[in-house]
Amino acid sequence: MQAYIDAAQAPEKNTGAIKLYDREAFDGMRRACKLTSTCLDALAELVEPGVSTQDIDDFVHQFGLKHNAIPATLNYRGYTKSCCTSINHVVCHGIPNAKPMREGDIVNIDVTYVLDGWHGDSSRMYPVGEIKRAAARLIEVTYNSLMLGIDAIKPGATTGHIGEAIQTYAEAQRCSVVRDFCGHGVGRLFHDAPNILHYGRKGEGFELRPGMIFTIEPMINLGRPSVKILGDGWTAVTRDRSLSAQFEHSIGVTEEGCEIFTLSPAGYTLPPYVRS
Ligand code: MF3
Ligand code: CO
Ligand code: CO
Repeated sequence: MQAYIDAAQAPEKNTGAIKLYDREAFDGMRRACKLTSTCLDALAELVEPGVSTQDIDDFVHQFGLKHNAIPATLNYRGYTKSCCTSINHVVCHGIPNAKPMREGDIVNIDVTYVLDGWHGDSSRMYPVGEIKRAAARLIEVTYNSLMLGIDAIKPGATTGHIGEAIQTYAEAQRCSVVRDFCGHGVGRLFHDAPNILHYGRKGEGFELRPGMIFTIEPMINLGRPSVKILGDGWTAVTRDRSLSAQFEHSIGVTEEGCEIFTLSPAGYTLPPYVRS
């Protein structure tokens, strides 16, 4: 099998080959990703004590409909919600429900809109009211982990350079990197080759080439890295019940480095989210 393939010629399914996308594809991703990041910006004003994760899901659903976009998670492998909402020791894939969030919670909201066939996949952490210092620090370490992974992207580097940048930094901060979930190729498919591991060594994995499009989405824990899946078949939690955080961007590799498709239009980076 060939490792890299022109996306315009490739079958749409995941064959394991890495698709290289053209300028029109980058334009399509820019539009889908901008909608996702605009929604994540708007959610900053909604998240507060007493609001439920179902309220968040309703907002994400309505926002998508208003802009002719479908949430990719709806009916995805039996998942029935428009986003994932992962609170405190939930690592990822938390299912929205009617329970009100409480002061001091931290919640990851992960949104993927499909617009004109392109998938814009991104997530951020949101504090619910005032949060503890340890929680704020974990959020900062996780955000920095994502951005350091992105800084490692340039043609000729490998996916292992990304993993090493994230792991080296997160572990130096006495945090751990979740191994059970990874970033992924994205584009016309929600989840495509290659896997982007958030740990590893330079030179491992695949060489990065201009035209590749994928997500980086490190999950970082205050305690041990191991996770388990709850009986609902989706919710992943830390085994030691320590706090977990995650940020996710969709990016495209360029000749110079990369383009972050899901940057916040409002200029938000770390919470508290205040307009720049
Ligand atoms: N958006 C998640 C990701 O970053 C995937 C969620 S799949 C779901 O890849 F079914 F759990 F929603
Ligand atoms: Co993703
Ligand atoms: Co996501």
